[in-house]
Amino acid sequence: MTNIPLQQLKSEYSNCTKCKELCNFRSQTIFGSGDLNASVLLIGEAPGKTEDEQGIPFCGASGKILQELLESINLTREEVFITNTILCRPPKNRNPKKDEIQNCNDRLFKTIQAINPKVIVTIGNFASKTILKKEAKPGITKIRGQVFQLQIEDQKYQVVPVVHPANLLYNGRNPVILEQMKKDFQVVIETTESND
Ligand code: URA
Repeated sequence: MTNIPLQQLKSEYSNCTKCKELCNFRSQTIFGSGDLNASVLLIGEAPGKTEDEQGIPFCGASGKILQELLESINLTREEVFITNTILCRPPKNRNPKKDEIQNCNDRLFKTIQAINPKVIVTIGNFASKTILKKEAKPGITKIRGQVFQLQIEDQKYQVVPVVHPANLLYNGRNPVILEQMKKDFQVVIETTESND
């Protein structure tokens, strides 16, 4: 399979109608943002209200934490690429459904191939399970900060699952969790640099 340029992929999916409930509810599809040649690709869960309004992933409260985590490893959001497991905001920010994740799977894997990053960061359970499948079964708190392999066709990628920033918000910004998350981002940068 030849890699599809990212801009082409973006325009193909901008009017996607595969998920009826999502495309009736969304304001727009949120394809992703950042450097098209990034070494680090981050995959979140799904756009929320702010993302649906602004068309940029992780631009709300979780995004502020993500930015802090990136800064802790001297990266800006412009230097990485950020997308989500699904491109559209689920009603009332409910969890993505299995068939919605399935419908967006081809787009996600083509995005990975188009960016061709050194490291993929899966943020939270949904992204980790979508990318790592059985390896993510124990749950994000068990697998966070470890390095896994993903093979797509003949290309190998390193994958580092991390806890979702929303988790920190639910836990009243517990500093212990924040430090743990920063440690996991150290694994991200070390893995990226060891691939240089
Ligand atoms: N914003 C996103 O774009 N994705 C998430 O998973 C959470 C907030």
